[in-house]
Amino acid sequence: MRPVLLVAGARPNFVKVAPVLRELDRRGVPNVLVHTGQHYDPAMSDVFFDELGIRPPEHHLDVGSASHAVQTARIMEAFEPVVGRVGPGWVVVFGDVNSTVAGALVAAKLGVRVAHVEAGLRSRDWSMPEEVNRVVTDRLSHLLLSPSADGVANLRAEGYGDDRIALVGNVMVDSLLANVDRARARPILADLGLGPDDYAMLTLHRPSNVDDPEVFAGIMGAVAKLAVDLPVVYPVHPRARPALDALGVPTGVLAVEPVGYLDAIALQASARLVLTDSGGLQEETTVLGVPCLTLRTTTERPITIDEGTNALVGVDPAAIDAAVRRVLTSPPPARRPALWDGRAAGRIVDALLAADRP
Ligand code: UD1
Repeated sequence: MRPVLLVAGARPNFVKVAPVLRELDRRGVPNVLVHTGQHYDPAMSDVFFDELGIRPPEHHLDVGSASHAVQTARIMEAFEPVVGRVGPGWVVVFGDVNSTVAGALVAAKLGVRVAHVEAGLRSRDWSMPEEVNRVVTDRLSHLLLSPSADGVANLRAEGYGDDRIALVGNVMVDSLLANVDRARARPILADLGLGPDDYAMLTLHRPSNVDDPEVFAGIMGAVAKLAVDLPVVYPVHPRARPALDALGVPTGVLAVEPVGYLDAIALQASARLVLTDSGGLQEETTVLGVPCLTLRTTTERPITIDEGTNALVGVDPAAIDAAVRRVLTSPPPARRPALWDGRAAGRIVDALLAADRP
């Protein structure tokens, strides 16, 4: 059997690749891991490998940060010879980052089948780089592995046949459920002087929120207001660091370096509420039953609103403030979406093997 070649490059990819690697190994399916190097700081990469027990990648492309075109092109240039050497039966790509689309493009042009984990999600906001990556990656994929029914519906509406679509559930939840007890045992809350249910958590890294000083200042103004009543812990993504340094850290906001996977889960699990523009946190808070306010005007994960604890709030400071008050007085009920059960990796490998059968 030809190996399965898996491509990961950024923080959320590592969380999704870990359970799939483990499942491939468990079933004796040969596999090869490529790290593109899109994220490279120890706090953005190594800590995820260590905590999630991911083996060192067989290939490291070491591309680093650059403009979208340059980063994508570097990944493609470096990945093409790896595909040639490995001769995979599948290239599996994850999520919606530049490493995802770059891996898919290389494989498709070499005539290697692509499987996309997290297929079918759509924000319908074409100004988001991730939306471009999602749509293009799905178009290049032979097998569309979708986390939720809305993803399947999007794919059908775009004309993909059911023979190429598999509803496998959310593989990020596999990692979450496998690690939540370990995460809760971490000393991070005590280290930061926070008590369970007695703080809010903030994360921001979308270009539309952190690259525009006016938008960033507006969000931080609303956060400062919340922080008068409730401390706000804010692990700062490197992309947002210059904007925060320029603005200054508001009183009551605890700005810390990016945290590893277990501490990120620990902080979410015990928070009274989470404010974020991350896709992964919308999903993780839904499973943890923690209220989430998404500081965007669209989401590609509507199921976290329909069934989970998420609310789409936008970036208007008054709207953020009103949503915070609402959530603090009446937290939303939580329901876990179908197939977000910790067994998505098994279904992903099932789908790959089934597609191989004549
Ligand atoms: C990327 C993904 C985004 C995902 C996010 C998770 C794309 C288009 N975006 O955004 O979808 O939600 O990862 O974190 O792929 N930097 C460092 N150290 C690092 C990595 C990045 O300092 O290890 C800084 C650099 O200044 C870099 C900037 O962060 O230019 C942005 O990094 P990049 O990987 O381009 O995008 P993210 O904003 O991290």
